[in-house]
Amino acid sequence: MCGIVGYIGKRQCAPILLDGLGRLAYRGYDSAGMAVLTEGKIQVIKAKGRLSVLEERTKNGTTVEGSIGIAHTRWATHGEPSDVNSHPHISQSGKFAVVHNGIIENYRKLRTFLTEKGFTFMSETDTEVFAHLIEYYYNGNLVETMWKVMRKIEGSYALGVLCDDYPDSFLAVRKDSPLIVGIGEGENFIASDVPAILKYTKKVCYLEDNEIVVLKKDNVTVYNADGETIDKEICTINWDVASAEKGGYEHFMFKEIMEQSKALQDTIHPRIKDGEIVLDNIVLTSEYLNSVDKIFIVACGSAYHVGVAGKYVIESLVGKPTEVDLASEFRYRNPIVTDRTLIIIISQSGETADTIAAMREAKRLGGRVISIVNVVGSTIAKESDEVLYTWAGPEIAVATTKAYSTQLACMYLLGIYMSQKLGKLSDAEQKALVAAVKALPEAVEKILSCRENVQFMASRFYNSKNIFFIGRNLDYAVALEGSLKLKEISYIHSEAYAAGELKHGTISLIEDGTLVVAPATGERLFDKMLSNIREVKARGAVVMAIAAEGNTAIAEEADYCLYVPKTHPLLTPSLTVIPMQLFGYYVASIKGCDIDKPRNLAKSVTVE
Ligand code: G6P
Repeated sequence: MCGIVGYIGKRQCAPILLDGLGRLAYRGYDSAGMAVLTEGKIQVIKAKGRLSVLEERTKNGTTVEGSIGIAHTRWATHGEPSDVNSHPHISQSGKFAVVHNGIIENYRKLRTFLTEKGFTFMSETDTEVFAHLIEYYYNGNLVETMWKVMRKIEGSYALGVLCDDYPDSFLAVRKDSPLIVGIGEGENFIASDVPAILKYTKKVCYLEDNEIVVLKKDNVTVYNADGETIDKEICTINWDVASAEKGGYEHFMFKEIMEQSKALQDTIHPRIKDGEIVLDNIVLTSEYLNSVDKIFIVACGSAYHVGVAGKYVIESLVGKPTEVDLASEFRYRNPIVTDRTLIIIISQSGETADTIAAMREAKRLGGRVISIVNVVGSTIAKESDEVLYTWAGPEIAVATTKAYSTQLACMYLLGIYMSQKLGKLSDAEQKALVAAVKALPEAVEKILSCRENVQFMASRFYNSKNIFFIGRNLDYAVALEGSLKLKEISYIHSEAYAAGELKHGTISLIEDGTLVVAPATGERLFDKMLSNIREVKARGAVVMAIAAEGNTAIAEEADYCLYVPKTHPLLTPSLTVIPMQLFGYYVASIKGCDIDKPRNLAKSVTVE
């Protein structure tokens, strides 16, 4: 979704802003722009389309003078992608320029109010309201004015504001949308995410809701919601620019697929000590866990698919009723949450609007929230009661791979941790399970080394119109993710079904030659799965199974079979997902799709 970068310092800012926007492009966007203060006047350059339009127009920023500026990549919500709807938006007199990520919910009311006061709107955006409202209330003091404006605005925003009365500073504020402040030497930054500024500084502070920051080149002042200046903790980012670059790979997605073994190792290994799971930041006592009568897992997108697998894992290891829900549903359905409810929130970014709202609702109702998050310092990481980080490193491709895998690993770690506390597993069971978790990175590496088999399957099926994924239990959970991976980047229609549900409708869609991907690693339900494979084959389907090494029975039924190493029955999704990710990737690659930035999608969905 929209990306924001702002700079103040001694250097020419336009090239820095463009570079920063480029590093936020992964978030998804359809237009871009910047506002730069040049000799006391605000200059705005903006255009629909890729950043290259802006780069060409400004010769990579070199033709724009000035060392204070704010810039933006827009992902359209109010009004189509167009030059005029692109950000920055300026106020009526041109005194203020704003860039905004979020949604102003009461913008219609404010638009009417401002129109009656004589303001003329140029765009269809909600953001323009911000620019005019600041001008309307401006009393010569921008910070005071912002408080007044913030009281009038309902909705979410990360906002950068440039004012021509302030030639040596600019202002930013956030509420329910991510924004970080980068602290440099004689220069300071704002950005929606760390990669935008990492080339210049590793020191960042995370703004909280309703905090205003005023940036000058030599200092940064943060005001809290009561108007007091506050000292913010400055954190040092522990990864470098190279981690957020392609490093010779053609696509971020492929790089991130290939990084999964290492990411799993970083997430899993430090948390295993003497055959036990040790989670430093999580303190769930046996007493508390015994009191828990319900567990919810809540998330969006692929993180939700981790939750679907997590339900099987937690119920089997912890023995507590576990419900998995989409955050956008959970937040509005009056969930039954009490102080005996444990809520597991999963989010790579920690900034997904629906997931944040679901977490807050769960807390409001008295539940205890543990989050599984990748981005340190993100809203969910900060607001949940406890956080278990996925040490996946920066994930840039819109279609998640290594974050999914590490979230799943965290789900196992959490499940085993809770079962330890409750004494649910025998010593031998515990030992076997922990050893299997520890061996996951190596098993993933082995699958990745055989990727040519998947590439061959992709070359065979990239022209498909429809592809179905079927599975049972954990194989069903991972089928959901395999199907999503394929459809989101290759634009091939795909659906995942619980194999036992096929006969209730979906089987009517199977035609001669339809590809059905059938993960069949579950031993307990293997025979039932074989029956489902026979059923679709009898109707003309071509079946590509995914099974554990050594399973010869499957080869007799399926047309093709991809093998993954054998593992503990609860851990199979961690391995089965790898060929599915590769399949989606290779299909999209053969079709020439924009793999890292699929159409209409955004990495971090910061609006509802
Ligand atoms: C977007 C991304 C998905 C991700 C989902 C939830 O749709 O494209 O890859 O699974 O958001 O994001 P989160 O950051 O909360 O995990």
